[in-house]
Amino acid sequence: MRNISLDNITPAVLDTMKDASDARFRELIGSLVKHLHAFASEVHLTHAEWNTGIDFLWRAGRISDEKRNEFVLSSDVLGLSSLVDLLNGSAHGTESSVLGPFYVEGAPLLPVGASIVGDNSGERVLLRGQVLDAAGQPLAGALLDFWQTDADGLYSQATPHKPEFNLRCRMHTDAMGRYALQTVKPLYYSVPYDGPVGDLLRAAARHALRPSHFHVLVSAPGHRPLVTELFAEDDPYIDADAVFGVRSTLVLHFERHEDATSAAPYKVEAPFYDVKFDFRLAAEEGAA
Ligand code: BEZ
Ligand code: FE
Repeated sequence: MRNISLDNITPAVLDTMKDASDARFRELIGSLVKHLHAFASEVHLTHAEWNTGIDFLWRAGRISDEKRNEFVLSSDVLGLSSLVDLLNGSAHGTESSVLGPFYVEGAPLLPVGASIVGDNSGERVLLRGQVLDAAGQPLAGALLDFWQTDADGLYSQATPHKPEFNLRCRMHTDAMGRYALQTVKPLYYSVPYDGPVGDLLRAAARHALRPSHFHVLVSAPGHRPLVTELFAEDDPYIDADAVFGVRSTLVLHFERHEDATSAAPYKVEAPFYDVKFDFRLAAEEGAA
C-alpha cells in the first residue's frame, strides 16, 4: 500500500493479518491493533510520549529476570491482572485473586493444625476452615499451598537469614475437608518500587502498598484449581490495594481471643486471632 493515511492505516494493518489461520489470534491481534490506534489518535500521541512508552517497556525488559517480571507487575498495577481474574472466575467457587511474584514451589507438607510460626515474632493467628465443592460437600485430601509475609511485611525471599520456606507450607485437608494452620499476622508491604513501575506509580501520585494477606493455592482432583488471597479486615490499606486484588468475599475478620479454650483441639498459644474461611472449588469444566 503506497497511500497510507490517517484514514486507512488501521484497516491496512488489519488487512496484513487476515490470512492468519488461528481465528482467536486474528481476533486478539486485530482488537489490540484497533485499540492501540484508537488510543494514539484519541490522545494525539506525540513522538516524545511514544518514546517514553517504548522506554518504559525497554526498561521493564532490562530489569526483569527469572525472579522479577516487571511486565507482570505492570499488568498488576494497571488492574489488568485482576480484570483477567474477574473475567475468568467461576460463579460456583471462591473468588480468585492475584498470584504475585513470591510463590515458591515445594513448601513443606504439614499436617492439619501445624504451626509455621517458627522463630517469627508477631501476633498469633489460627487460620482454619474447610475446602468444599460447589454443592457445599467437604473435599477430603484437597491440597492447600500457603505463603505470606512475616510481621514486618517481608516474604522469605527478603529474609535469607531465616529458613528457606519461612511462613510457607502445604497441607492436605482431613477426612472432613478441614484445614488449620497456626501462623503470625502478616503486615502490609510495598510491591517492588525501584524500577519503571515505581516511576509510573510516582508519576500517578500512587502508593505501592498492598494490604496484609495470606496467599493460598487450593486444588483437588476434578475441580478447578484456585489461586486466591485472604485479607485482614482491619488493615489500613484494605481499600487501597496497589494491585486491585481485594474482593469483599475475601476480607476476613480476625477475632482476637485472650485464651486458647476456643481453639481446642489445636495447641494454640494465646492471645491469638481466630480466622475462619471455607474455600469452595468449582467443578472442572467437563467434569461430572
Ligand atoms: C503479592 O501479593 O505478593 C504481589 C502481588 C502483585 C504484585 C506484587 C506483589
Ligand atoms: Fe503477596
